[in-house]
Parts: sequence; C-alpha cells; structure tokens
Amino acid sequence: MTDGPLVIAIDGPAAAGKGTLARRIAEALDFAHLDTGLLYRAIGFAVLQAKQDPSDEAAVLAAVEEPESLRLGDPALRRDDVADAAAKVATLPGVRKRLLQFQRDFAAAPPGGKKGAVVEGRDIGTVVLPAANLKIFLTAALEIRADRRLKELRERGLQSIRSQLLREMRERDERDEKRAVSPLRPAEDAAVLDTTELDADAAFEAAMTIIRSQPDFADKDRS
Ligand code: DC
Repeated sequence: MTDGPLVIAIDGPAAAGKGTLARRIAEALDFAHLDTGLLYRAIGFAVLQAKQDPSDEAAVLAAVEEPESLRLGDPALRRDDVADAAAKVATLPGVRKRLLQFQRDFAAAPPGGKKGAVVEGRDIGTVVLPAANLKIFLTAALEIRADRRLKELRERGLQSIRSQLLREMRERDERDEKRAVSPLRPAEDAAVLDTTELDADAAFEAAMTIIRSQPDFADKDRS
C-alpha cells in the first residue's frame, strides 16, 4: 500500500480509547475516519428493532440492509443493549463478510477525497486491511477501561454499577477474543500502545510519535 491512500489501522478492546485517538489522528493528518464498531452496532440495532435474535445468522442477514444504508450517526447505537447485540452479530461469519468490502472500499477511496484513512475496530490490522501502512493495537487494563466507560456514561447522565459494568466488559472482551472468526488480537506487525497509565493527550502524543517514525507518513502531520 504505497501508491493509494495511506491507511492507519487501530484495533483494541472496548473502551481502550480507540475512538478518541482515531478521531484526533484523523484530524491531525486530515484523513477520513471510520469507526467499524458502529457498523456492527447499526446491525445489532436493526436486529433489535426487527425483534429478531442477534445470534440467528439467517434472521440477522434478512433484517439488515446493505452497509451503505446503515445509519451510523444514530445516538441509539451507543446504548448498552445495542452493544450487546453488536457483540453477538459480530460473531456471525456472514455479517463479517457482508461488511468486509464496505470497509476496504472506505480505505481504498476515503470519502471527501482525503489522502488517507484511520480505520478502527477489532480485526482491521489482522483481517480487513492487513496491508495497512501502520497498525496500532491500543489496549489498557480492564479496570481502567471500565472506569473510563463509567465516567463516559455518567457524563451522558446514565447511571451504571461498576461491578456490573466490569462483568459485562469482561464478557464482551472474552467474546471478542475467543470467537472463531476474526478474533480480537494484535497483528504481528502492530505497534502495541498500552494506555493504562496514559490520559487521552498522552496517548495521542505516543501514537503521533509512532506515526512520525514511519517513513510513509513523513510530512503528513498538520498538528
Ligand atoms: O467498538 P464497539 O464497542 O463499538 O464495537 C461493538 C462490537 O462490535 C464489539 O462487540 C466488537 C465488535 N466489532 C468487531 O467485531 N469488529 C470490528 N472491526 C469492530 C467491532
């Protein structure tokens, strides 16, 4: 991938800070940004609305429109029941297959004529875009991620019990790491960035240091 758009893949578990980091990198480099979790969430939401079982592959594929018509800006996608349905539909090979080309097309021709794309998810560096120019695997200790998620929920006026949130996140991690198709794991050539002890600014600086050290990205930084 040297001639086409530049691609940065950011993978990692839930609440590791991928969204904030990916947005900031995209802004600094003037790249397009795709949060692929939203694709799975939009499918999970469509399935819940159709009152179908998110584990039933045939029903899920029947309930879901083409990826192009999924409404990724709907605030309902952030709901916890939607996250749960998303984790279930994400284990279905037919769902992953249906989303694959959409994600690759986004990176090959980033919207707005941007020169590159930052694509975040769980399997971007390993499966979706294995030839990405740069892969970052963003992680943090489970307790820290749970605390960040708790803070985020409280800021949105939602109450949540820490012990319950921890249990749910542990279950979701396990489901993401142990599923047969595209499990969550760092690509062999990914730079692993552990943000347990880093706030959002420090994580961004650490990521930009990694990016600047890559010859493909020389002169691309606007920040
Ligand atoms: O990052 P998120 O919480 O919005 O992701 C929602 C669910 O989708 C989560 O269970 C992981 C799954 N997912 C995935 O399997 N592959 C991706 N590339 C992105 C998300």
